[in-house]
Amino acid sequence: MENQEMELNVAETQEENAFSGYDDIAEKEREEQARQAQIEADKLLPPDPEAILEVRHLKKHFVLKKTMMGKPISTLKAVDDVSFKIKPGETLGIVGESGCGKTTMGRAILKLHQPTAGQIFFEGEDIAGYTPKQMRALRTKMQIVFQDPYSSLPPRSTVGDILAEPVRVHNIVPPEKVKDYVLGIMDQCGLRDYYYERYPHEFSGGQRQRICIARALAVAPKFVVCDEPVSALDVSIQAQIINLLKKIQQERQLTYLFISHDLSVVKYISDKIGVMYLGSMVEFGPKEKIFDNPLHPYTNALFSAVPNPNPDEKTDRILLKGDIPSPANPPMGCKFHTRCPKAMEICKHIVPEYKEMEEGHFVACHCYSENSKG
Ligand SMILES: Nc1ncnc2c1ncn2[C@@H]1O[C@H](COP(=O)(O)OP(=O)(O)O)[C@@H](O)[C@H]1O
Ligand code: SF4
Ligand SMILES: [Mg+2]
Repeated sequence: MENQEMELNVAETQEENAFSGYDDIAEKEREEQARQAQIEADKLLPPDPEAILEVRHLKKHFVLKKTMMGKPISTLKAVDDVSFKIKPGETLGIVGESGCGKTTMGRAILKLHQPTAGQIFFEGEDIAGYTPKQMRALRTKMQIVFQDPYSSLPPRSTVGDILAEPVRVHNIVPPEKVKDYVLGIMDQCGLRDYYYERYPHEFSGGQRQRICIARALAVAPKFVVCDEPVSALDVSIQAQIINLLKKIQQERQLTYLFISHDLSVVKYISDKIGVMYLGSMVEFGPKEKIFDNPLHPYTNALFSAVPNPNPDEKTDRILLKGDIPSPANPPMGCKFHTRCPKAMEICKHIVPEYKEMEEGHFVACHCYSENSKG
């Protein structure tokens, strides 16, 4: 019975393909070959000396099911071939619906998840293959602030101990200077010095997030992944924490990868913006270009949902059809085609090229490719 159904499905797909003029199986093979050739060619390029972080063809796939012999049967492509660069002192905002791979990408860059493939150049060194021991030395330079300040602090340590520990472990200052150093960081983060002896449970969410930020800063990093750092906080507190992150960035020349689903926050803090959908970067560019001239239909739909502060300017909200598909079984061709208001026949079969449309502004959509069959 099952076999019969499968045969029918195969026959139907073949019929559909014959009708559409696309051979999906051949197309998939051709795409994979072209992608591999591009990855191999890019591997030979030196890292951009102007970028503090350059990510090339980063992939993080989770194996959901294996055979008895350990061969993967089902894989979830949480991050699937993402490339971008960040210059020192810049903030790259990453946006996209929940489940599109933002956290996994941030963690893979810091190697809290071992990447499946790709290159991660940090200050010109490819750290993708670094061992945990090699990464330990880099931990002082690369830090993360998590979304939930309630679960990310150890409940039985005082604020002083939480902040002093990484300073001691990484020998940031001589042992006799640790306390003064920590008090200095606390002051920079708006934490009073008598908090040093207090415990995390004595503080509100906003204060706890300040402690988390202070902990990240304690090792004097250059690059910080901020993963939805204000989403768990009261709206009234969010602006304070965002302003604190901005102030610290200016004082310390930090580079941020700022993940958020809140576009107004991202607009405020970012220099560049990357829009992700189902593990892929669909649009990337300077903030002004992305906000003033969004090219990808997904970016357009996301931005149309942001309330316009100017009541004279009317924005038509674009409602997306259906739910976000599972990244374990993404649609063929353009992964957005099942929800895209502009989808064409080609979109169902061929992955759109990720193209630079104007300087530094990239988009992956057939609306902007010459060979669109319509
Ligand atoms: N450890 C894991 N094992 C299997 N799947 C995972 C794991 N972590 C995340 N995922 C899946 O990867 C996808 C992307 O998740 P995530 O990076 O958390 O998205 P976002 O941060 O954009 O909400 C989701 O479908 C999620 O269920
Ligand atoms: S490639 Fe097609 S489906 Fe994908 S975003 Fe562009 S128009 Fe929409
Ligand atoms: Mg997340």
